[in-house]
Amino acid sequence: MKPYSRITGTGSHLPARRVTNADLAAELAARGVETSDQWIVERTGIRARHFAAPEVSASDLGAHAARQALEAAGMRASDIDLIIVATSTPDMIFPSAACILQHKLGVGGCAAFDVQAVCSGFVYALTVADSMIRTGAATNALVVGAEVFSRILDFNDRGTCVLFGDGAGAVVLQASDTPGILASDLHADGKHVGILCVPGTVSGGRILGDPLLKMDGQAVFKLAVGVLEDAARAALAKAGKTEADIDWLIPHQANIRIMQGTARKLKLPMDKLVVTVDEHGNTSAASIPLALDVSVRSGKIKKGDTVMLEGVGGGFTWGAVLLDF
Ligand code: ACO
Repeated sequence: MKPYSRITGTGSHLPARRVTNADLAAELAARGVETSDQWIVERTGIRARHFAAPEVSASDLGAHAARQALEAAGMRASDIDLIIVATSTPDMIFPSAACILQHKLGVGGCAAFDVQAVCSGFVYALTVADSMIRTGAATNALVVGAEVFSRILDFNDRGTCVLFGDGAGAVVLQASDTPGILASDLHADGKHVGILCVPGTVSGGRILGDPLLKMDGQAVFKLAVGVLEDAARAALAKAGKTEADIDWLIPHQANIRIMQGTARKLKLPMDKLVVTVDEHGNTSAASIPLALDVSVRSGKIKKGDTVMLEGVGGGFTWGAVLLDF
């Protein structure tokens, strides 16, 4: 049994329909909702997002990203013995998006399940996969973040509908003699449920409560910067490293101001901060693996680089994973 896990391939996928701030402002204006490219860019750093066509599900986006990650790792789907999908917008109430994705990859038999930790989902899922590999419960894992947040947006609420997008990212995580994942630090505090939630549910064949996203943006903002700093410092301490060892910081891509605030608190120069929120918007559990894959494919992140991944989101949940790529 190998003592560590290491990312050996990355992939990502965005739906074809790219919606700029100007496109979205025009669509919202038709509903009597006022916004502007200037407001969105100044407050969030977002310039565009992608929206999936109505028939496209999270597992469709995830399967595209997974195939790319497998190809990058030089593996076939049949080599995988664990699939974890992080999502808050699964195809169905059940079965899991992971089971549906497994079937779309043309395989069956290996363990497959979803992790639901909203925008922290990918760091949660990666930590679970790393733990399972290190205990020998799995050898070759596929860890996917996939979301269709456009389905749960209230397009009459300009405070939230301009922030989110759809997409997927994936990694192959394999057992390894050398690390790989150096340390993780995960947290949740359920007392903050109300500041970021989709409160509706299904009961007796009907939707009970509101099935669209609700957020107290300022409360989320204040909490996010503090917990991201704490999680990063905890992961560094567990790995016996310091901020100076970080080559790249990939925080959850929610808002450029939260991301820059986190980098400042960690005393990292802004050129170590990976930013894709401008082009992707907030894709929740997909944002970190999407940003990772874009950075790897552009040649920014290279083998051996030390990368800090950080998630924060509804729950409230937060966490960090420090890794050698
Ligand atoms: N266009 C134009 N004006 C707007 C828009 C919009 N899209 N949205 C809000 N406004 C207006 C408000 O109505 C308000 O107007 P008023 O002053 O006349 O009342 C004004 O802009 C200021 O609104 P605030 O909500 O105070 O603006 P703020 O500076 O806090 O920015 C934002 C809002 C961008 C949501 C910010 O609070 C934020 O980014 N919070 C964190 C959100 C986040 O990152 N969430 C995701 C993390 S977890 C997860 O990913 C699920």
